[in-house]
Amino acid sequence: MTVEPMAEPRDHFEATIAADQRIEPRDWMPEGYRKTMVRQIAQHAHSEIIGMQPEGNWITRAPSLRRKAILLAKVQDEAGHGLYLYSAAETLGVDRSDLVEKLITGRQKYSSIFNYPTLSFADVGVIGWLVDGAAICNQVPLCRSSYGPYARAMIRICKEESFHQRQGYELLMTMMSGTQAQRDMVQDATNRWWWPSLMMFGPPDEESPNTAQSMAWKIKRHTNDELRQRFVDMTVPQADKLGVTLPDPDLRWNAERGHYDFGAVDWSEFKRVIAGDGPCNAERIAHRRRAHEDGAWVRAAASAHAAKRAERVKEAAR
Ligand code: 3HC
Repeated sequence: MTVEPMAEPRDHFEATIAADQRIEPRDWMPEGYRKTMVRQIAQHAHSEIIGMQPEGNWITRAPSLRRKAILLAKVQDEAGHGLYLYSAAETLGVDRSDLVEKLITGRQKYSSIFNYPTLSFADVGVIGWLVDGAAICNQVPLCRSSYGPYARAMIRICKEESFHQRQGYELLMTMMSGTQAQRDMVQDATNRWWWPSLMMFGPPDEESPNTAQSMAWKIKRHTNDELRQRFVDMTVPQADKLGVTLPDPDLRWNAERGHYDFGAVDWSEFKRVIAGDGPCNAERIAHRRRAHEDGAWVRAAASAHAAKRAERVKEAAR
């Protein structure tokens, strides 16, 4: 159902949001909406690109050709997600080179989760299971986000995230039916990634400066705490099936609520990590800066080629 154009652009924007329709790049939108979309899409894109590093660290050390091929495919997918999302951000009038500059100079964020080290190959499985699992919980509702290009990018990304989650879980099932040492590696990785995965969903609702407005604009369809709870409820039975213990002594089913109760997240750790003081923040940004510098000649060659082509097209049109 398309919303009829209205005299007042703001009325049309609000009627479009109220009718659960999409805001498109050419539509009028409040400056605050545009800024929020640029912020969220850019940080999402940065997260995908930085997220290649923790797992990429294991590509050359995968235990078999099959595992290497799967991991390569997954890391390449993340690169594609990043490029896809930078394209969605550019529909809002920003340029990806500026966004990358903002990332490298610490003026834009990326997900806290990628500032933790990957200490064994079990981390590759646990990242697939927990981190991509959390991503799916967070990103499926974003397929219904009010900004058209973002929502459409999410549909394809979510399909690939499902493969990411399944390959991780299957890797862990294999290790859990292996040696005691392999089972211990899976439990150790689960212990290290569980709480940072809960932090992926953002601060508690009452401490989130953006959630209320993002919900009103239907950018977010659920609050941070709602999605965190959905992730816990989905993951506890998977941990039971896997045979690992989640590192939370307060985790228990609450029949009254119909959800799992879980312990307090260490928000001081979260604040430290997003302020740049996580285990791997400096390493992640240094790596990203180096890759960006090493790729400068490719960008220069590509833009020189594009300029030449544009010149030729203009010549031919004369
Ligand atoms: N890591 C880093 N920063 C975070 C964060 C996290 N886990 N959670 C929240 N923040 C930041 C926010 O960016 C905001 O800071 P800003 O105003 O300077 O940008 C501040 O903390 C307050 O948080 P809010 O909850 O108010 O902010 P949002 O409304 O933006 O909600 C969010 C945060 C839930 C992460 C939301 O931005 C979102 O849903 N983003 C899209 C999904 C995304 O970015 N996922 C990141 C992981 S990427 C990924 O999953 C890849 C997969 O392949 C593994």
